[in-house]
Amino acid sequence: MDTIIINGGQKLVGEVCISGSKNSTLPILFSTLLTDDTVIITNVPALLDIDIAIAFLKYIGKIVVKDGHTVRIYSYNTIYKCTQPYELVSKMRASILVMGPLLARMKRVNISSPGGCAIGARPIDIHLEAFRMLGVDISVHNNYVKMFVKKQLKGTTINFKFPSVGATENVLLAATLAHGQTTIINAACEPEVTDLISVLNKMGAKIQTYGKNKIIIQGVTKLHGVIHHIIPDRVEAATYIIAAAITKGEVLLKKVIPSHLRIVNSKLKASGLYIKETNTTILAKWVKNLHPQNISTNVYPGFPTDIQAQWMTLMCLLEGTSYIEETVFENRFLHVQELKKFGANILINDRIVKIQGVKKFIGTAVQISDLRAGAALILAGLVAEGQTILSSIHHLDRGYDSIENKLRKLNANIIRIQDKKCGDSRN
Ligand code: UD1
Repeated sequence: MDTIIINGGQKLVGEVCISGSKNSTLPILFSTLLTDDTVIITNVPALLDIDIAIAFLKYIGKIVVKDGHTVRIYSYNTIYKCTQPYELVSKMRASILVMGPLLARMKRVNISSPGGCAIGARPIDIHLEAFRMLGVDISVHNNYVKMFVKKQLKGTTINFKFPSVGATENVLLAATLAHGQTTIINAACEPEVTDLISVLNKMGAKIQTYGKNKIIIQGVTKLHGVIHHIIPDRVEAATYIIAAAITKGEVLLKKVIPSHLRIVNSKLKASGLYIKETNTTILAKWVKNLHPQNISTNVYPGFPTDIQAQWMTLMCLLEGTSYIEETVFENRFLHVQELKKFGANILINDRIVKIQGVKKFIGTAVQISDLRAGAALILAGLVAEGQTILSSIHHLDRGYDSIENKLRKLNANIIRIQDKKCGDSRN
């Protein structure tokens, strides 16, 4: 497997273009199963997870042509394969997003449950309960889910016990072609959900959002082709802003939507980082010593759980005490033990960590446990004294397009030692 080596201590300076959002691209790729027309998606990031989603589409029965950051999806057949191979499902949790479109088009799906992963149990009960309410017959044996629809999916009112991103997307994908009206109450309203709604409406769906958390879908009988440009990846953007802050540098992020990062940027400003936004850029500049800030992760527009690990690395190096509460996932502190190897002073108490700032990190060898933990450890390596060696890099390749090239352009001393690729995609 590949390894990344960082010689820390370089200030990051320069410009970086933010790639398209992974979490937006995945459901949008699966939404192409809802039409037989051609769909063209641009600004698609080059990531392992995207390759897995494309492999799914090809297996199910689409022709997919990837050309740089553009993906074209064609149909040669209106019959899709409904039994999903375990080799693909086990690689990526987002593979459960095939459920919605296949139930809508083929009225049947057989798929193994993606199960738990490094960051928590991650059940799919909210997805399954919603499908039941839409009229799907579901049986689960040994983590294998069999679903079928007798006649047609029927619109209904679904009140989520938690605003799950994936469940909201799955219901949107299914209910778009259901009979009648579906209302989702307590829906997720992350920008990636909004991007999915936007592409579905451009394909002919009738979806409206009311306030923050209510979505009404009027079922239609057919969707048509579309060209869609994916929104920027807010998690990648936040990682580069924190990289500028932690290395006392100055980085201009291009091709971003600053409003998607409101809470993160407001916390960074409160900490003392200089941030200047235009419609599509963010300038992050270190001008004085930063002060620690407490955060508690939450659903959008709260502080994103996907930025918690990177935030923790920054807090570890600020003078004073801070607290981080993780409310979305039950086990998302796996980076703590690796950050301690750099010299971090962190105490975990259930879902809250207490961080006592230290003066510096010393480079070390660390192992990446999951995607965002990987970003946190890269940040630690950038600022640590001496050399850091990161292994299990495939986790990073799932969510960060060309990370070492982008960082090198910003002046980081970082190289990848290549070996054979391998993937395990669970976010
Ligand atoms: C998506 C993102 C992931 C992000 C997460 C929360 C993608 C591909 N991944 O994941 O990067 O960290 O949102 O913002 O978009 N839950 C249940 N039952 C369910 C579904 C979820 O209990 O049926 C729980 C999960 O275990 C977790 C919480 O709800 O604790 C959030 O999960 P969810 O919002 O569904 O996240 P994902 O869609 O899996």
